[in-house]
Amino acid sequence: MKIVTLDGPSGSGKGTVGRLLARILNFNYLDSGLLYRAVAIQAIKNDIVLTDVNNIEEIARCMNLEFSLEDNKIFLNGFDVSNLIRTEDISIVSSKVAQLKSVRAILHDIQRSYLKGNGLIADGRDMGTVIFPDADLKIFITASQEARAYRRHKELLGRGESVSLRDLKRSIASRDRSDSERKISPLVPAVDAIIIDTSHKTVEEVKNEIIKHYSSIKE
Ligand code: C5P
Repeated sequence: MKIVTLDGPSGSGKGTVGRLLARILNFNYLDSGLLYRAVAIQAIKNDIVLTDVNNIEEIARCMNLEFSLEDNKIFLNGFDVSNLIRTEDISIVSSKVAQLKSVRAILHDIQRSYLKGNGLIADGRDMGTVIFPDADLKIFITASQEARAYRRHKELLGRGESVSLRDLKRSIASRDRSDSERKISPLVPAVDAIIIDTSHKTVEEVKNEIIKHYSSIKE
């Protein structure tokens, strides 16, 4: 079974490319950011502060997250969270949840459980470095902060969430900092990752580039 990891910062386009690749290759798809986002939602819902690590761990252990690639619907413990899960508020809290070592350990096994079927496209920050160090192909997708803020702005507007571009740039810079500088599983390319800068590339171009790399390792 083949594993392709797609790591990179928020707004680099890895989600869009990842879903596309999973469909083309008929692979399972793991959007690992959703797991951190789901813990954030449930913590807020249960009024649990992030310093209450025991209860946050309990949420991570017990949550049931369902994701459908066909219609992009996401259910958390039976509730439709498709819109809520990608909002800016949840982005900020999820990045804080992601700094909790014990929560990352619980999510480690959940992420490995996505390994089934023909193969896996695993999208996140530490897919190639920590969760699937044995992956067949490791891609690190990046883009300038400017390009990522514009994309995220467009995406949020499309979903009816109005956040100023200036606030988004600040939020992206701050999440980059906390994701890259945290001690545990920081956002860094694996030593054997291929780095793709998508600032001036279309989704189609990035997808084709990855398929080309994939074809060369396929045998
Ligand atoms: O990818 P996405 O923006 O949905 O991820 C939300 C947050 O979850 C990130 O800002 C990051 O802090 C965290 N995350 C992580 N490791 C992953 C995926 C996401 O720390 N593999």
